[in-house]
Amino acid sequence: MSLKYKFPENFWWGSATSGPQSEGRFNKKHRSVFDYWFDIEPQAFFNGVGPNVASNFYNSYKEDVKLIKEIGLNSLRTSIQWTRLIKDFETGEVDEDAAKFYNNVINEFIDQGILPVINLHHFDLPVELYEKYGGWESKKVVDLFVIFAKKCFELFGDRVKYWATFNEPMVVVEGEYLYKFHYPKLVDGKKAVQVLYNLNLASAKVIKEFKELGYDKNGGKIGIILNLTPSYPRSQEEKDVNAAKFVEDFFNNSFLDPAIKGKFPENLVEILNKDNVIWESTEEEMEIIRNNTIDFLGVNYYQPRRAKAKEEKFDESNGWMPDKYFDNYEMPGRRMNTYRGWEIYPQCMYDIAINVRDNYNNIPWYISENGMGVEGEEKYINDDGVIEDNYRIEFYEEHLSYLHKGISEGSNCFGYHTWTPIDCWSWSNAYKNRYGFIAVDLPTQIKTIKKSGRWIKEVAKNNGF
Ligand code: BG6
Repeated sequence: MSLKYKFPENFWWGSATSGPQSEGRFNKKHRSVFDYWFDIEPQAFFNGVGPNVASNFYNSYKEDVKLIKEIGLNSLRTSIQWTRLIKDFETGEVDEDAAKFYNNVINEFIDQGILPVINLHHFDLPVELYEKYGGWESKKVVDLFVIFAKKCFELFGDRVKYWATFNEPMVVVEGEYLYKFHYPKLVDGKKAVQVLYNLNLASAKVIKEFKELGYDKNGGKIGIILNLTPSYPRSQEEKDVNAAKFVEDFFNNSFLDPAIKGKFPENLVEILNKDNVIWESTEEEMEIIRNNTIDFLGVNYYQPRRAKAKEEKFDESNGWMPDKYFDNYEMPGRRMNTYRGWEIYPQCMYDIAINVRDNYNNIPWYISENGMGVEGEEKYINDDGVIEDNYRIEFYEEHLSYLHKGISEGSNCFGYHTWTPIDCWSWSNAYKNRYGFIAVDLPTQIKTIKKSGRWIKEVAKNNGF
């Protein structure tokens, strides 16, 4: 068959979800910050739908994995919930039911020929650790996270070969400490900077543990999943270019550089020092960050960021914010996913590929999330009861064509995962926008393959399209 876009051999064709967004809270002994937030403020969630049932994966994982197999995916990411696996956060004592559950899930993936990629943190901090220590503001929590990670390696490291320390740690910084879209919805730039540092430290400490325990010696790889939002200036004028450079350093490179190069971007450190908001760190910690970089990178890409120079002087009377250095820029004529309010700009896939190739040692990397959330997909159901999500197929094909261009120019990308295999719970947007290859009817939990599910099966089979 002649294909326009052929991908490298053994390419990962897969999809990603997370524990808190798919499992439901069944039999979970602790609450994450999201469980807690829903318990105290259910009206903050679209249609008042919380994480209690989600897509029922806890009960239906066997059938779900079978459906995922049916759409031809060869790899799949999910996460282990800290609040499920661990009974006692201080000692790392494991909840036996949870260990059994995750063992069954991982074995099911493997039995169905699907490579498991396991992530350790997907925004789901135990709320007790926020109340007791201030969550990621505290280095004590960093060390407790290492205890949890170690348990995961010991329990599942014989079968799981691909691990991620965090999913989108920058979203924790933005949602919880800057822009109020995740509980506890603080606006505190100084704390945000400390959290940013602590998350980097936690990732490096987990990698150190992984290596010290020897999991890298028997084929294990450990990485991090970052949401990269390439930043483009409004114009080539110096002040706009500088604004975009700051945005790139603060929102992308503050995780990308430590993860791959073992150090923070110098310009950013200089600004944070000058503004007196630099994190507290020790030389010993910096050395851990320096010496424990990732084996592979996962990139979640949804939208670009556009920046312009500030139009008015930033009012610092309420404290420091990164917004001191830029304004967001809404480019006239930009293409939008109006359901989600995100710009659609597939060219970024190429720019990311070239950035990794040229500035990050061409490290092995993959697209770990890319997707299009659409509201009201029922209106696209055809006479056979199938959602005809042609818009999603077009979205994927466009993004893949730019990724392909990057790969054909030498970028070391080994896979493409979409968000998400089965419609899942999306934080405060709950089930508003659907992303899956497989639809969920919430009241009955009946799951049906969409047209895009048939499409990806063909793409995976042919290794291209
Ligand atoms: C990513 C996250 O930010 O995007 C997922 O890793 C999330 O957890 C996905 O669900 C889609 O975004 P949203 O906000 O529409 O759920």
